[in-house]
Amino acid sequence: MHTIDWIDDAVVIVDQTRLPAEAVHLRLTTVEALVDAIRRLAVRGAPALGVAGALGVALAVRQHSDPAELHKAVRLVAEARPTAVNLARGVHRAAAHLPSFDAVLAAALQLRDEEILNSAEMARRGADLVLELCGPSPRLLTHCNTGGLATVVEGTALAVVFELHRRGALAGVIASETRPLLQGARLTTWELARAGVPHRLAVDSAGPFLMARGEVDAVILGADRICANGDVVNKVGSYAHALGARAAGIPFICVAPETTVDADTPSGDKVEIEDRGAAEVTGTTAPPGTAAVNPAFDVTPAALVTAIVTDRRVWRPAPPPR
Ligand code: MRU
Repeated sequence: MHTIDWIDDAVVIVDQTRLPAEAVHLRLTTVEALVDAIRRLAVRGAPALGVAGALGVALAVRQHSDPAELHKAVRLVAEARPTAVNLARGVHRAAAHLPSFDAVLAAALQLRDEEILNSAEMARRGADLVLELCGPSPRLLTHCNTGGLATVVEGTALAVVFELHRRGALAGVIASETRPLLQGARLTTWELARAGVPHRLAVDSAGPFLMARGEVDAVILGADRICANGDVVNKVGSYAHALGARAAGIPFICVAPETTVDADTPSGDKVEIEDRGAAEVTGTTAPPGTAAVNPAFDVTPAALVTAIVTDRRVWRPAPPPR
């Protein structure tokens, strides 16, 4: 089953807010329902958001015959979340075929199929690179969720992990829990367990120390946007892992499809970082009324990135440190 698909005139997604307790599907038949699902992270992860955006245009054409209303609905989907470039890009790709419903849907399904192929390409290329950089039986650390749940199937960085496991070449993975919404603790562990990959869960702040203690051979994670200069915008906490990796002298590898590479954005400081508000941070733990700051993403400067693996290339954005 795909994480996101078009089935019987609806966008069908795995509801990621319910995992790992239960794997249920949501049928979304309106733009409003899709936008709500995107905002509350029922569907999430850059490549999955790209497909959601494209399929959202198909929903919009079905709902609106008035061009102004249609345009408004399309914009609503494109702007549902700001940071992952895939969302607006998926919308624009499908919207280029407006007003034909058939052509819009065909473009969206083509993007879905391309992302499936992209995962396979990244898995192969990424596994080769990890073995080249780390030697046999690497111990990896990953952050957030970059598996099939973040794409259509298989994933980006986690697709590399699955591929290494299939090759019998992986010692194990540490999943970083990914405060505050716990994509690592809830989703990555669920996917790793289903695939039979040996793994352990760690609090986010343990990552750099585990690297310093020699328990990690490489960090491998995804991206929501890769800027023209190689800056990697990804789930908050990625930057701390990158600093830890640099201090420990281990590779920091980003795996993302070309659909996440944004040549129009020169560097990470130009990217809008989604702030998701205080409640996710304070929860029920902090005293009522506590102020919080909650950037959902951070920027890892290109200088800390050993390599970016896409479906087409291995890109080393900065010269290795001396
Ligand atoms: O807020 P999320 O869960 O959508 O953030 C997702 C991430 O940061 C992922 O690491 C990124 O999209 C890469 S997904 C293959």
